[in-house]
Amino acid sequence: MLYVLQTIPGLGQLAWREVETFIPGDSERPGPRLMGLKAVPGRDDLLMIDHRGGPRALLKLRASEDVFAVAARGFKIAYDERGLRQIHAAVRNADAVQDVLNTWRKATNSHKQNGTFRVIARTVGTHRFMRRDVGRAVADAVRDGWPGRWQMVEDNSDIEIWATLIESELICAVRLSDSEMRQRGKVKHLPASLRPALAGAMVLLTNPSANDVFLDPMAGAGTLLLERAAAGPFAEIHGGDINGDALAAMQANLRGVRGEISLSRWDARKLPLDDGEVDKVAVNLPFGKQIADETLIPGLYREVLAEIARVMRPGGRLVVLAGNTSTLESARYGAARVLRPLDRHRVIVLGQTATIHEYVRESGPNRVRPSEPARRPDDDGDDYAA
Ligand SMILES: C[S@@+](CC[C@H](N)C(=O)[O-])C[C@H]1O[C@@H](n2cnc3c(N)ncnc32)[C@H](O)[C@@H]1O
Repeated sequence: MLYVLQTIPGLGQLAWREVETFIPGDSERPGPRLMGLKAVPGRDDLLMIDHRGGPRALLKLRASEDVFAVAARGFKIAYDERGLRQIHAAVRNADAVQDVLNTWRKATNSHKQNGTFRVIARTVGTHRFMRRDVGRAVADAVRDGWPGRWQMVEDNSDIEIWATLIESELICAVRLSDSEMRQRGKVKHLPASLRPALAGAMVLLTNPSANDVFLDPMAGAGTLLLERAAAGPFAEIHGGDINGDALAAMQANLRGVRGEISLSRWDARKLPLDDGEVDKVAVNLPFGKQIADETLIPGLYREVLAEIARVMRPGGRLVVLAGNTSTLESARYGAARVLRPLDRHRVIVLGQTATIHEYVRESGPNRVRPSEPARRPDDDGDDYAA
């Protein structure tokens, strides 16, 4: 069956990496195949995958936000009024509908043969019809052709049908996930809090292992800590924040999570941790827009990176989300050169471009001091607004 995984813009490749890693094939059944990676610009990345198993494993993925089963596809959809008739025909006559409805029943523990639906329509391209016309064409097709009796409603429907028209290609899919896949039990959210799928992708990049002593030194509401706890066994999790409200939110979010978890109010520039005590660090540094003065950011980055380098063991992995690559890289070069850069992944966070940076902590002492600002002469970091 064809499924669509939906995630945050820029995370598509990492979401696929998670699928490949955690849903491998075996001798009886091949693993999922990536059939296409598409973008609804600024909104979502969509991965179309061919997966022979049921949806259960997909619904547990951490770098995706939603899972859909593809009911109908349309190709060469015209940009003018004829396109609407093509969409109606593609959705009404789709062969996969019965299987998709059965999969939806399985995923949602429903026995409904009849019920309500709503259509969420999205278009990318310069079509001569409106988004709502696409919604209407799809709704008519469902009523006319799908097995059972389905009544359209505005809200609180049994079934959500997402119709995405990207240029001349239509993907019409039934949502299998509910809001929990996006929220992940997070009860408190702060203005600068990460979406759990982004935190989930960052945690995956730390290569979680059962012996991990994991740290988020600027943890806000604790989204990265929650995702690390969900990613599998760990030895210890340490999280903290300078702000008392953030600590309260973090405590509320991690209540009920079992294991060695210590949450503190601290200054990330002076952590109460020993040299080399930590294996993995994931951190979302303040971008300097919502919660910190922008002029203080370079100095803060230098001091925090130097402190992270101190508490990490050689070979440990650091994953940083930052809004401005050149600010981060010149801080690292000036204060924590022992953190060697690996890959980068560009994403959209709260409507802004940001980058996930991976580092490994090399062996030996960190020979630069945070008081020595320096800009790497060949720094190719791009200076987009953060
Ligand atoms: C971008 S937010 C982190 C959001 C977090 N990842 C979440 O999902 O909620 C950055 C956090 O850094 C904290 N912070 C700023 N300066 C700090 C410092 N010197 N020590 C510790 N935390 C600090 C802020 O209070 C804020 O909560």
